[in-house]
Amino acid sequence: MIDLLINIDHIATLRNARRETFPDPVHAAALCEQAGADGIVFHLREDRRHITDRDARLLRDTVQSKLDFELSTADDIVQICCELQPDLATLVPERREEVTTEGGLDVLQHRTRLRDVIRRLYDAGIPEVALFLDPDLDQIEAACEVGANCIELHTGDYANAATPAERRALAERLAQGAERAHALGLQIHAGHGLDYRNFRLFADTVPHVKEVSIGFAVIARAVFTGLPEAVREMRRVVKGY
Ligand code: PXP
Repeated sequence: MIDLLINIDHIATLRNARRETFPDPVHAAALCEQAGADGIVFHLREDRRHITDRDARLLRDTVQSKLDFELSTADDIVQICCELQPDLATLVPERREEVTTEGGLDVLQHRTRLRDVIRRLYDAGIPEVALFLDPDLDQIEAACEVGANCIELHTGDYANAATPAERRALAERLAQGAERAHALGLQIHAGHGLDYRNFRLFADTVPHVKEVSIGFAVIARAVFTGLPEAVREMRRVVKGY
């Protein structure tokens, strides 16, 4: 059974668009949990464009389910993550000009830095450290070498496929990545662009996935249905009940 973690960054995006105090991502996280989410994800970006330090602290204090802190390898953000001790730290690439995370980490290029950061996160007591990766077998092997115990497969290209045939081919590629990661003993997560319609093919094709992180599709649907209903619907898609 795949666990559903909900990314609540876009609640903060909406709040910050009006420089308001609402809607509050901390309130959203509690509603997601009540509606059956298995965990909550947030990304404390270096430019603080959505989640703030205050949000991160309050989420750590209030989230009862699994808490996934997405972060870059910037020293000050790694320090905050170490202090907050989430259940899972997911390292992602970050570029200021991007609208959202684009593509996976280049582990081959940044081995030394990643090895150091992963060590710091474990030493702080964080039990799971994931690297966000494209389904590239060399990158997956490098993730294992630098000490990560999880990977999050980047499903953005799969989600953006132009045709059903392309989507099937990209699902197969994700499946090969998952097989290799599993053989290396890594835990497998996935996310980016997953939604109510493209999830099923993904789940039917890609083995060994323990959890998915889904944000935009759920928050966008919540505008019309309310957040609890949007989470319950996604939960039905992911778990089949
Ligand atoms: N996983 C990672 C690493 C991400 O950066 C994001 C986007 O914040 C997601 C999952 C969720 O993607 P989406 O909002 O498209 O569901």
